[in-house]
Amino acid sequence: MTLRVRSVADQPLAGERVFLRADLNVPLRDDSVADDTRIRASLQTLEYVRKQGGRVVLASHLGRPGGFPDPALSLRPVAEVMEIPLAPDCIGSEVEAQVAQLGDGEALLLENLRFHPGETANDPEFVAALARLCDVYVNDAFGSAHRAHASTVGLARACSRRAAGYLLEREVEALSRVRDEPERPYVCILGGAKVSDKLGVLEALSKRADLIVIGGAMAYTFLLAQGKPVGRSLVEPKQLETARRLLAGETEILLPVDHVVAAAPDLAASTTNEIPEDCAAYDIGPLSVDAIRERLVGARTVFWNGPLGLFETEPFDRGTRAVAELIAQSSAFSVVGGGDSLAAIRLAGVGDRISHLSTGGGASLEFLEGRSLPGIEALEVAT
Ligand code: 3PG
Repeated sequence: MTLRVRSVADQPLAGERVFLRADLNVPLRDDSVADDTRIRASLQTLEYVRKQGGRVVLASHLGRPGGFPDPALSLRPVAEVMEIPLAPDCIGSEVEAQVAQLGDGEALLLENLRFHPGETANDPEFVAALARLCDVYVNDAFGSAHRAHASTVGLARACSRRAAGYLLEREVEALSRVRDEPERPYVCILGGAKVSDKLGVLEALSKRADLIVIGGAMAYTFLLAQGKPVGRSLVEPKQLETARRLLAGETEILLPVDHVVAAAPDLAASTTNEIPEDCAAYDIGPLSVDAIRERLVGARTVFWNGPLGLFETEPFDRGTRAVAELIAQSSAFSVVGGGDSLAAIRLAGVGDRISHLSTGGGASLEFLEGRSLPGIEALEVAT
């Protein structure tokens, strides 16, 4: 018996109620969608199902409301952008009646799945309530594929007619190319605040990549492990040993050689090679950008996740923006994932020069780590 994941393209959909799990977990600002990347990425499958005459029951989580309705985390702003009616809840008789009213090609967006504790608990009763809304299950939520929740795992298993959407397929294809057959040299650029958040992927990449570039606050744990002065930069003392081990490993690790420092993020910043005792580093400096530029020349595969500095605060956004430009200039097969990295790509206006923009933050890291993602596993059917 072999297991495989069917594609939405192979499903008869006309007249069927299609539960489409998307990842519409978008950043909000003042009750509006601040970044619609994930919405746009979900449109291909949505439009396909509608064109085929499917009756779309669109579902997603938004934020982490903790199992209770939180008006600040309603999917209403998403429904408005998508011009799709919003149901008052994601389960229950009123929602079932609304779904029953859907005509072929019409869509209804369910309210935030995480307003119910059964979603993250993958509770069988909650799964059964969702299952009453559909005939076919399609998962296009790659960004949530690392979560074993009711809408990503329980419902998939409960529906014999289950399939992957186009976005999920594209993500798996691009990330598999990086994970399984990277053309060399293979350069990974990792940023973000904490080494502990990236441990798994660091360990995996230290066996697969040719070079790991580390930026963001986590670089300072590595620099401290080398005995360099880090001033008051953020460090994780518990990860010093891991940093030393990774630095001594076979894969070369490139750390920042200069820094944009300040006594606090809202005080005057300066660029330096040596971090003063009373300052913290909030971004990589121009020499570090030059070093990354040099190492990207000739790279055939590039993966980037995580900001290289305090990206949301000027002037500490420059390193991250520069790296976005450098990756766009590279002729390597490039994959970029994670909210801040994608935001930098968008601000630099270079999205069309990146081979694949991954909508998954944690999901893409777990995939590259070689872990099997429960949301994808649950889609498998015996053939
Ligand atoms: C994400 O933004 O990475 C996904 O939507 C998953 O969200 P979560 O980390 O709250 O499960």
